[in-house]
Amino acid sequence: MADPDAYLRQPRLTVHGIPMINAFAHNWERVDTFQSRPEDIVVVTFPKSGTTWVSEIVDMILQGADPEKCKRDIISKRVPMLEFSVPGKIAAGTDLLATMPSPRVVKTHLPARILPKTFWENGCKMIYVGRNAKDVAVSYYHFDLMNQLEPHPGTWAQYLEEFMAGRVAYGSWYSHVKGYWERRKDHPILYLFYEDLKEDLRREIVKVAQFLGQELSEAALDTITRHTSFEVMRDNPATNYRKVPPELMDHSVSPFMRKGTTGDWKNHFTVAQNERFDRDYAEKMAGTDLRFRTQI
Ligand code: PPS
Repeated sequence: MADPDAYLRQPRLTVHGIPMINAFAHNWERVDTFQSRPEDIVVVTFPKSGTTWVSEIVDMILQGADPEKCKRDIISKRVPMLEFSVPGKIAAGTDLLATMPSPRVVKTHLPARILPKTFWENGCKMIYVGRNAKDVAVSYYHFDLMNQLEPHPGTWAQYLEEFMAGRVAYGSWYSHVKGYWERRKDHPILYLFYEDLKEDLRREIVKVAQFLGQELSEAALDTITRHTSFEVMRDNPATNYRKVPPELMDHSVSPFMRKGTTGDWKNHFTVAQNERFDRDYAEKMAGTDLRFRTQI
């Protein structure tokens, strides 16, 4: 059996040209050969963009807005992450998914270019969640401080450079958000924004339900909105990742449910960092009509 400690704080590896968490990168054939089903619902994001939030919303919709049913297991078992694997310690996402009845909800951070073709070929519905790059960088930095499956991120100044250069797990934020923005033109993709969810959660839940072909009563909508608020998800052991072994996630360094706000980047970026980031952003995002809000 592989030694799971061998994956802690290790350098990333590369899969199909994308930097990948060391533990996940082994035996990548399991991801490439994964068989989707047409009823699969894929929740796909660049890391730290609202994956857990939207996964819980989708599960609540599928479970008839019953919070107790959504406490049947932790989020990573209810909505397994396709590429997840810690050999010798935690079952691979592909193995978990293979045992689940349909409709499965599949979490992934894979960029469109390397998402297994099976999902495109089967016309699987995808819900993409985008979040503005500045808040993602701040959230990702804090996550990498506490997530032992990632290399240590160094100082914030060092990390920001790595983020801008796409030298973080899953590569370039800029390519990721643009990749799915383009694919939505030829594939059923509901493209959501974290900032919109913050602004009006109820409105965005309605969008998700409509996309999934589900009608929600006003009472069900009320329940889902309440159940997926930051405070309730932070205190819910089925969504707050507190059940992950502490040697993998150290919540005392920074909790997974950290702040849940838009605009926290203002507490971290210096004026010079912000100017440099904005210049670089304009270059990397030139030519797209995709727009993000850095405050609401
Ligand atoms: S991961 O590890 O990539 O799957 O993380 P992900 O779930 O995509 O993103 C984690 C960030 O989302 C915040 N979050 C929420 N914000 C508002 N409301 C709710 N309900 C909610 N649930 C999760 C979480 O706090 C992380 O953001 P930061 O900025 O670090 O707080």
